[in-house]
Amino acid sequence: RILILDFGSQYTQLIARRVREAGVYCEIYACDCDPAAITAFAPNGVILSGGPESVTFGETPRIPDAVFALDVPLLGICYGMQAMAAQLGGTVEPSSHKEFGYARVRARGHSRLLRDIEDHTTPEGYGMLDVWMSHGDRVTEPPPGFKRIASNDSAPVAGIGDDERCWYGVQFHPEVTHTLQGQRILTRFVRELCGCSGSWTPGNIINDHIARVREQVGDGKVLLALSGGVDSSVVAALLHRAIGDQLTCVFVDNGLLRLGEADQVMATFARHMGVNVIRVDAENRFLKALAGVTDPEQKRKIIGNMFIDVFDDEAERLQNVDWLAQGTIYPDVIESAGAATGKAHVIKSHHNVGGLPDRMNLKLIEPLRELFKDEVRRIGIELGLPSNMVHRHPFPGPGLGVRILGEVRKEYADKLRKADAIFIEELWKNELYSQTSQAFAVYMPVKSVGVTGDGRRYEHVIALRAVETIDFMTARWARLPYDFLDHVSRRIINEIEGISRVVYDISGKPPATIEWE
Ligand code: XMP
Repeated sequence: RILILDFGSQYTQLIARRVREAGVYCEIYACDCDPAAITAFAPNGVILSGGPESVTFGETPRIPDAVFALDVPLLGICYGMQAMAAQLGGTVEPSSHKEFGYARVRARGHSRLLRDIEDHTTPEGYGMLDVWMSHGDRVTEPPPGFKRIASNDSAPVAGIGDDERCWYGVQFHPEVTHTLQGQRILTRFVRELCGCSGSWTPGNIINDHIARVREQVGDGKVLLALSGGVDSSVVAALLHRAIGDQLTCVFVDNGLLRLGEADQVMATFARHMGVNVIRVDAENRFLKALAGVTDPEQKRKIIGNMFIDVFDDEAERLQNVDWLAQGTIYPDVIESAGAATGKAHVIKSHHNVGGLPDRMNLKLIEPLRELFKDEVRRIGIELGLPSNMVHRHPFPGPGLGVRILGEVRKEYADKLRKADAIFIEELWKNELYSQTSQAFAVYMPVKSVGVTGDGRRYEHVIALRAVETIDFMTARWARLPYDFLDHVSRRIINEIEGISRVVYDISGKPPATIEWE
C-alpha cells in the first residue's frame, strides 16, 4: 500500500484515485501528522503531493524524517519534489517565469521511472512528454545522488531521480489527465518500483470488506437508513452479502421522492435481493409539517428533523440493534478531518441520523469509509445493483421539498414528479444522461398565460436544470440540444395538466447554486 502525504494540493484526492485505479490501496495523511502514524502504516512507497506553499520561505511544511527513514520508494510531485530537493541538499529558487497549464518536457537519461514513457520522439531521438504544470518555484540543482530526469526551458530541472534509492521528483502533475502519460507514470511507480501487486479490484475490495464486517459485527444486528441513493444502496448490498438477515433497512417515503422511486427501491432490495427493508409511508406526516412553510432553510430543517423522528420511531420498535450503518465515503472523511490524521471526524449533516447512535447506544459502522465515489459505483455493479441505480445523479436529502419553490403541496409534488420523469426519461433515451452530472425539474408556482387549441391557459411553470460538474462546488449549465429541449418542453406541457410553460435554467454555479432553493 501507498501513503500519500498531503501538502495541501487541490489535486491530492486525484492522486489517490489514480493510485487506486492502478489497483493499489492508498491513504492520504496530512503532512504534519504524527510521524509514528507514518511508520505504523508501513507503506511500500510514499507520494508527496503538491501544495500552495513555497519552500523558499522559512516556515513552510517539510517532509517528516520518518518518511526518509522508511527506506521505500518516494515520488515527490511539484511542491513534494521541491521539498525533497531542498531537504536533501539541492537548490530551489523562486522562478521569474511561472508556469501554469500545458507544457512539453524532455525526458532525459534513462530513469527507471520514465524509461520508455513518452508522447513524442524528437528527431534527435529524445522522448518528449505532454504534461500539466502549475508552479512558481523551480529546482535549479538536484540534490547529491540525483540525476536530472526531465527538463524544459522554464524548468531546466523538471524531474529528478535517484535510481538506487528509488527516490524521484517531478515538477509536473502526473495525476491530472492533461498529463497524457500520467497514469502510466503513477502505475509504474506504485506497481513496478514500489512492488505493489494491483490487487485492489472491486472483487477483492468486496471480499475484504465482507470479512471485515463479519469480524466487526459478529452476530450483532445492524440498522441502515436506506435512501435509494448510491452510497446507502451499496452499503445495503454489501452488508446483506456479508451478514444477510442481521441487517435491517428502514426506507422512509417522505412524499418528496421521484416518480416510482419508493417502488423501485423496494423492488430492487426487498424483492430482488431479499434484503429486510421496512418501508415507512410518511408522506402525510411530512406534508403536514411542511404546510404553509415557504422559507427554504426552514423547510430543510423540518424535513431533516422529521426524518429523524420517523426513523427513530421505527428503530425503537426493533429489538437488540447494536450497530447503525452509514454510507460515509472517503471524500467525506477527508473533508471533515482535513486528511485522515486519525482525529475524530464530524459526519456531514445529511449523513448523520441525529443523536440516534448515542441515544440507542449504537455503534457506528461505515463500510465505505475508505472508498471514492467511482469505487463505490464499481463495487455496486459487482454486487449486482442495477446500473441505472448506481449511476444515478445525486438527489438532495430534502428531495422535491427544495425543488418546489415556496410552499410544498402534494398536487405540486405530483406534477413535478411527472415533469422530472419525462425530462430524465428523455435524457436517457437521447444518451444525454451520462453527459450531465445532475438534471432535474423545478416547480414554480407562478402563473403564466398559455394557449392550447382555442383555449386560454393561466397556469404554473416548470423549470429544467441540467449541469456539468466534477465536484458540485462549481458547475456549468449543460448545453443540451435545442431540439431535445423543444421535445421535452412539448411533452411536459401536453402531458401534465396545469403546466403552461417550460423554461431552461442557463445560470452557472457560481453565481447561482445547482438547486433553486
Ligand atoms: P447546491 O444547490 O448547493 O448543490 O449548488 C450542490 C449539491 O448538493 C446537493 N444539495 C443537497 N444535498 N441536502 C443534500 O443531501 C441538501 O440540503 C442539499 N442541498 C443541495 C445538490 O443536489 C447538489 O448535488
